[in-house]
Amino acid sequence: MSNFEIITTDDGSPSVYSKIYSEACHNLSGAYQETLYNFVQGCEINKLDHRPIKILEVGFGTGMGFICTIENCPKPIRFVSFEKHEEMVELAKEIHPLYKDLRKVPGGYGLQAGESEILILIGDARDRIKEIKEQFDAIYQDAFSPRKNKELWTKQWFKDLYKLSHDKTILSTYSSSVSIRKALIESGWLLSNRKGHGNKKLATIAKRTGETDKEIIEKLKRSSVEALSDEIISFPPN
Ligand SMILES: C[S@@+](CC[C@H](N)C(=O)[O-])C[C@H]1O[C@@H](n2cnc3c(N)ncnc32)[C@H](O)[C@@H]1O
Repeated sequence: MSNFEIITTDDGSPSVYSKIYSEACHNLSGAYQETLYNFVQGCEINKLDHRPIKILEVGFGTGMGFICTIENCPKPIRFVSFEKHEEMVELAKEIHPLYKDLRKVPGGYGLQAGESEILILIGDARDRIKEIKEQFDAIYQDAFSPRKNKELWTKQWFKDLYKLSHDKTILSTYSSSVSIRKALIESGWLLSNRKGHGNKKLATIAKRTGETDKEIIEKLKRSSVEALSDEIISFPPN
């Protein structure tokens, strides 16, 4: 029996429910709209002028991140995505016809779509990230929730992402929880508030330059919740 089930969200776009994490890959209000808002718009992809624009995604899931990006950005994109569960790639092929052309490459899967390309690195992102030598203009931090997928929200993880960023990189995530904001700050990121998608109050934008919003600093100071770190998390689900 599969651990994953394809579902349809309220904007008509597909997502996947994972029985391992007891969570869907997207908010049920709309997978496509949420991806567009949280990541393509959150990382200001359309303001970038590089060729190619380099994007790193934490959690390939259904593959919506790449699809939504190339549909909304006419410039060439190099998109690198982490995925622990290879079965997700098979589901992505069922959901999005584009992925039927994915080919196996050493350590993962690759696809050229016009002038854009995607590389999916299969395995635990915490190991695979060590092989990456390039820097990215945008980071889509889209793991399952910090409660269910703790290992991808720790300060050690955010330090590794920091090493792959440059002065203009934007990291965008849907979460605004205190433990992950503290983890981001402790690994060098500077944070600002962004309105969350749909009825979610707040999301988080992280950069290397500028300064952290005063409102965020005050709120974090008032909370005794610790930054997520490898030392305090229990083992993640397989
Ligand atoms: C919320 S979903 C990603 C949704 C995706 N961005 C999309 O648009 O469909 C999170 C993904 O992260 C993957 N994941 C969880 N832990 C991981 C890990 N340690 N390393 C790599 N991938 C992981 C899950 O299998 C899942 O597919």
